[in-house]
Amino acid sequence: MELEDIRNISVIGAGIMGHGIALTYALGGYNVALNARQETSLSNALRHIRYALETFVEGGLISQDMIETTLSRITTTTHLKDAVKAADFVTEAVPDDAELKRKLFGDLDVLCSEHAILASNTSTLVLRDFTSQCKRKDKVLTTHWINPPHIVPLVEVVHGEETSDETVELIYSLLKKVKKMPVKILKEIPGLVHNRIQDGMIREVWSLWEQGVASPEDIDLIVKGGFGFRLAAIGPLETCDLGDLGGWYISTSRLFKVISDAKEPPEAFKRMVEAGELGLKSGKGFFDYGTSYFDKGQDESVKTRDKKFIQLLKLLYS
Ligand SMILES: NC(=O)c1ccc[n+]([C@@H]2O[C@H](COP(=O)([O-])OP(=O)(O)OC[C@H]3O[C@@H](n4cnc5c(N)ncnc54)[C@H](O)[C@@H]3O)[C@@H](O)[C@H]2O)c1
Repeated sequence: MELEDIRNISVIGAGIMGHGIALTYALGGYNVALNARQETSLSNALRHIRYALETFVEGGLISQDMIETTLSRITTTTHLKDAVKAADFVTEAVPDDAELKRKLFGDLDVLCSEHAILASNTSTLVLRDFTSQCKRKDKVLTTHWINPPHIVPLVEVVHGEETSDETVELIYSLLKKVKKMPVKILKEIPGLVHNRIQDGMIREVWSLWEQGVASPEDIDLIVKGGFGFRLAAIGPLETCDLGDLGGWYISTSRLFKVISDAKEPPEAFKRMVEAGELGLKSGKGFFDYGTSYFDKGQDESVKTRDKKFIQLLKLLYS
C-alpha cells in the first residue's frame, strides 16, 4: 500500500487518547470512524474534539471554518464492524489490558480488509502480548502517542519483531503528513524510549513527594523552571554535552547512590489511587481540579493546559 492509498482511518476507543488521535487524523484531511462501546463515550469524545478545535482557533493554529470541516470528517459508531469496514488503517486506544487488546486484534484481523494496517497505542505492552490471534503480523505495529495526542508532536513508531519495514515506513510517512514528529523505535521493549525516560524521572519525583522534601507545587516548579525549561529546546544528551561531561561524571557517581531505585510505586501513591484519586480524570490527584474530566466543567482545566502547550508548540516550530 502507498501513502495515497490511505483514505479511511478508524480509531477504536474514544477516551483520553482516542479522541485526540481521531482529531489529528481528521485535521490532517482523513475520514475517521471513531468507535467506542457506549454512545455516551462517543458524545463526550465529540464534545472534547470540538473544544480542542476551538482552542486551536483561539491559539491561531487553524481557521474558524476548520472546526466544522474537521468534525464533518469524523463519524462515530458503537459497532466495531461498521467502524472498520472501510478502513485502510486502524489505530486502537482502548485500555492497556492485554486480554482486551488480544480480543480486539483478533476481531480486527477478521473484520478489516486484507490490506489494512493495524496499530496499537499501548504504553507498556509489546505486540506479542496481544497479537497471537492476528495473522497479518507484518501489518501490525505500535504507534505510541503522547497525551494530549492532538498537541504533543512526538509519536514513537515501533518496529515490532514481525512488523515489516514497509509498514513502519508507510505509517511514519502518514504521521509526518498529519504534522506529527514521528520517531522510529528500532527495538521493541516495554515502555519504549519516551516512557522509560519519563518513568525514571517520575520514580524520583514521587519519592521526593512521599518524603515531603518539597510541596507538590514546588516540585513541579523546580522541573518547569529548571531542567524542564531546557528540555524542549535541547535534549538530555545535548544538555550533558553543553555542560561538562567530567562534571556530570562526578555528579552522577555521587547521586546515583542516593536517588530512588524503587521497584514499585510508593505506598502513599498506591493509597491515593485506591481512594479513587486519579488526577484530572476523577477531579483530584496531587492537585484538586474540583470536577471530573468527564463532567462538562472540566473542559476549562483542559483548555488552560492546552493553551500553554500551544504556545510551546508555536515556539518549537518557529
Ligand atoms: N493516557 C495517556 O496518557 C496515554 C499516553 C500514551 C498511550 N496511552 C495508551 O493509550 C491507550 C488508551 O489509553 P487512554 O488513556 O485513552 O484510556 P481511556 O480509559 O481514557 O480510554 C479508553 C477508551 O476505550 C474504551 N473501550 C474499552 N474497551 C473497548 C472496546 N473493546 N472497544 C472500543 N472501545 C473500548 C473505553 O470505554 C474508553 O472510552 C492505552 O493503551 C494506553 O496505554 C495512554
